[in-house]
Amino acid sequence: MAQHQMNLRRLRQSPHLRGMLKESRVSRENLMQPLFVGESNPKPLEIPGLTGVYRDTPDSLLSQIESDLEAGVRSFLLFGVPEKRDSIGFDFTRDQISKIKKRFGSDLYLSVDVCLCSLTDHGHCGVLSAEGDHVDNGATVPLLAKAALEYAQAGADCVAPSDMMDGRIKAIRAALDGAGLDQTLLMSYSAKFHSKFYGPFRVAADSAPKSKIKDRATYQIDPSRFSDALACAKRDALEGADILMVKPGMPYLDVLYRLSSEIPEVPFAVYEVSGEYAALEFLAQQNLISLPEARLEAWTSFVRAGAKIIITYGARNAFRILV
Ligand code: PBG
Repeated sequence: MAQHQMNLRRLRQSPHLRGMLKESRVSRENLMQPLFVGESNPKPLEIPGLTGVYRDTPDSLLSQIESDLEAGVRSFLLFGVPEKRDSIGFDFTRDQISKIKKRFGSDLYLSVDVCLCSLTDHGHCGVLSAEGDHVDNGATVPLLAKAALEYAQAGADCVAPSDMMDGRIKAIRAALDGAGLDQTLLMSYSAKFHSKFYGPFRVAADSAPKSKIKDRATYQIDPSRFSDALACAKRDALEGADILMVKPGMPYLDVLYRLSSEIPEVPFAVYEVSGEYAALEFLAQQNLISLPEARLEAWTSFVRAGAKIIITYGARNAFRILV
C-alpha cells in the first residue's frame, strides 16, 4: 500500500468548509438565562463580575424580561431574594412567578430555582439543627417540596432544586403529582459540586453561608468525587427528575461527558456558573481574549460534552455571538 502523508489540514482550509463540518453547534434555543429578583434592593443591583446582570426589583424584572424576549431569549431560570429571612417564606418568589406568567404567558419558558439559601438568615441551603451544628436533611425536604409546589401552582413550567439534600426529588415529584401538576418539569441540580466558582452569585442571591458551619461541604459534592456525582445523578433520575444538571461547567466537562454517556435517556443541563463566566470577562478586560469568541468556545465545549441546555448569564447577548 502506498504510503502518503495524511492531509488533515485539507478540511480546515476555508470558513465554508469549517462551517459545513461543525459537529457540535450551539443554538439560541439551547440557552437559559438566569434572572434575580430582590425585595429589599430599591433599584437594580449590578452583580460584580457579571456585566449586564442585575438583581432586579419586581418592576425592573418585567422590563428586563421584555428586552430579553426581544433579544430572542425564550427560556429563563428565576431566583427570588425576599427581604424577610428570619422565617422561611415563599410568597415573594411565588408572586413574581404569577406576575411574569400573567404578563408573558407561554411566550417564555420559566424555570424556578428551589432552595432555601436566599430565604434563611444563615444562608445555608437547608434548615439547621437545633444545635446549629448541621444542616438537617429531614427537616429541609418538606420545605423544599412546599416551595416547589407553590412555585408550580403560581405557573412555573419547571422547578429546579439546587440544595443537594437527599430525597428531595422524590418528595417534590410526589407533591406536584398529588396536586395534579404532573406536567410540571423537574430539573435536578444533581451533580452540584462544592466549588469556589460561585462567588458573584452569592452577591446576586445574598446567599453566602454565615453560621458556624462556614461552607456547603457537607451537602455539595467534593470536586474529586466523580462516583458521588454518578450516584446522585442515577438516584435523581430514578426519583423522577426529567432533566439532570452538572454544575459548574468548564472545570467539570469530564463529569458532564461521563454522566451524559452513562445516563443517555435523560437530557443534561450544564450551569456555566458566575465565577467561570466572570473569569472570561476579566480576561477580556485585560485585552487578553476576544469575549464573544471565547463565550462561544465555552458553550461549544458544553454541547460537545453532552449538554442540551446551557444555563448562562450570557444568553441575553447570544444574538451578538451566535450566527
Ligand atoms: C445555591 C445555588 C448556587 C448557585 C445556584 N444556586 C450557589 C451556591 O451553592 O452558593 C450558583 C450559581 C452561580 O454561581 O452562578 N442554591
